[in-house]
This record gives sequence, structure tokens and C-alpha cells, in this order.
Amino acid sequence: MILLDGKKTAQEIRTELKTAIDKLKTEGKKTPGLAAILVGTDSASEIYVNSKAKDCNEIGMKTVTEKRDASISESELLELIESYNKNKDFHGILVQLPLPKHIDEDKVIEAISPQKDVDGFHPMSVGKLVIGKETFRSCTPAGIQELLIRYNIETKGKHVVVLGRSNIVGKPIANIMLQKKEHANSIVTICHSATKDISSYTKQADILIAAIGRAKFVKADMVKEGVVVVDVGINRVDDATAKKGYRVVGDVDFDEVSKKASYITPVPGGVGLMTRAMLLKNTYTAYLKYGK
Ligand SMILES: NC(=O)c1ccc[n+]([C@@H]2O[C@H](COP(=O)([O-])OP(=O)(O)OC[C@H]3O[C@@H](n4cnc5c(N)ncnc54)[C@H](OP(=O)(O)O)[C@@H]3O)[C@@H](O)[C@H]2O)c1
Repeated sequence: MILLDGKKTAQEIRTELKTAIDKLKTEGKKTPGLAAILVGTDSASEIYVNSKAKDCNEIGMKTVTEKRDASISESELLELIESYNKNKDFHGILVQLPLPKHIDEDKVIEAISPQKDVDGFHPMSVGKLVIGKETFRSCTPAGIQELLIRYNIETKGKHVVVLGRSNIVGKPIANIMLQKKEHANSIVTICHSATKDISSYTKQADILIAAIGRAKFVKADMVKEGVVVVDVGINRVDDATAKKGYRVVGDVDFDEVSKKASYITPVPGGVGLMTRAMLLKNTYTAYLKYGK
């Protein structure tokens, strides 16, 4: 079994981006920038935004975090986004979700210029992905494909079974793997909560991508020998022996399934870190395409 090491791979990506940004600086050129908008004081959101800022600092990417009180009005938030749409120093805009209930998330996502949509959630980006055009792809699915590429995992003609159909993971990764393109071109099956006898699908998977948010849902008897497993799940389970009283596990029972898998991502240390790295990569791409 080979570990699909998200920590190492994400570090490789950050190093590549840092080299590219250092070169721009040496040449006296403009450099890429990411604007993050955080509304309210949700602790998980704060952690995410802080870690994204830390990543930017590590690679020398310009970044700003706009923190706003949860009472901000929808129109004030839309104005803030518009100011960054116009700001030529920032090439990517990230609005940390979820937003307070009085704000329409769809409106906010649609307010971000598709040229700065580094999270890949704008309907324009999603639509382009579905019809196979070059576009920003949301960071988690983009990170999954990048991991498969960097470990030279064959995807053409392989059966990819995706568990989960959310707009941020399940649907976009299914669309990416379906593309008639290099590093994709797979046969794709999507399972969800209405799927009966889910094992009958997972057992067929050459590549299994689990994104359902159910701790250790996938067991060894649900997969075939040699399967490639990508575990997207992030689930907290009580653990009195852990310092925080809990630990984080994936949607896959790693101890069991790793004995049958040819490749598998750990949780933590897998897809989560790739997601962060792809945000940086998307911002660099936005700069190259639209921002110089
Ligand atoms: N590593 C990362 O960077 C990253 C990024 C995003 C999310 N995540 C994690 O990935 C997991 C999924 O996230 P998400 O945002 O996609 O979740 P979500 O929006 O809650 O969607 C969950 C999906 O799983 C399906 N599902 C739930 N229980 C199921 C079951 N027992 N059998 C089959 N399908 C089931 C749901 O089906 P229905 O559509 O029928 O309800 C839904 O499509 C979570 O643990 C989340 O924390 C990790």
C-alpha cells in the first residue's frame, strides 16, 4: 500500500509556487494576491481563513483578510466584494462559508467576478466545468485530481465511484473525472443517501472517492483488492485519550481498508492539505490569466 501523502504533495506545490513568485519579485513584476472575507466569529471558519493566510505568507503571496461582524448587511458585503472585483492587486477572492442566515449565499457567490473565482463556486465556473471548458475548479476536487496525477495513477477507463453529491466535492469531482481529457476519462458512478446496497457499487470501484461526512463508513468488505482510495471526510469522534477529547477520522476505516488498498489518503494529512494548496494554485492561475 502506498500512502497518498497530501502533506508532502501540498508542500511540493507550495514550494513550486514560492519559486515562481520569488522570480516575479526578482524581476520587479507584480505578484499574485488573495483577498479573504470572513463574516462573523465561527471558530472553524476563523481557523480556515487563518491557515489560508499563513499559506499565502509562506509562499510570498500577497493576502488580506477582511473581517466583518456577523451583523453586516447583504448589500454591504456585496459592496465589499465589488471593491475587490475592481482591485487590481488581488487576483483571487474567497468568501468563507457559511454566511449568517440573513445573507443569501448564492447572491454572494455570484457577486464574485468569475475571473477571481478561485474557490470555483460561481455558476459560471461550474457550468464551464460541466461542458469541459478551462475554468477554476473548486479546490477540494482539484486537489484530489492533482494527488492522482502526482502519484501517476491511471484514470482513463477506470471506474471511479464517488460517495456524496455535494456541490463542493461530490458533483465537481465526478464532473472532473468524467472529462474526456488527460488525467480523467473515467467511468463515473455517484452514490448518495438514496443509494440502496451501496457496497455493490463500492466493490466495483478502481478508484473510490468518499465524501459523505460519516466516520469510518467504508469498511474493508466494501472494496476490492487493489482499490485506490481517496478519503475526503473530516469527522470528529470522541477520544478520551486525545488532548482535545476528540480526534479526526475520515469516511473510510483506514486501518481496515488500507490492508486492501493499493493507494490510500490518510485523514488528516490527505485531501484537506491539498485543498489549501489548490487555493494558492488557483490564485496564481488567476494572476497569470487575468492579472498581470
Ligand atoms: N478535506 C477537505 O478539504 C474537505 C472539503 C470539503 C468537505 N470535506 C468533508 O467531506 C465530507 C463531505 O462534505 P460535503 O460538504 O460534501 O458534505 P455534504 O454537503 O453534507 O454532502 C454529503 C453527501 O453525502 C451523502 N451521504 C450522506 N450520508 C450518506 C450515506 N450514509 N450513504 C451515502 N451517501 C450519503 C449525501 O447524500 P444526499 O445528497 O442524498 O443528502 C450528500 O450527497 C465531510 O466530512 C466534510 O467535512 C472535506
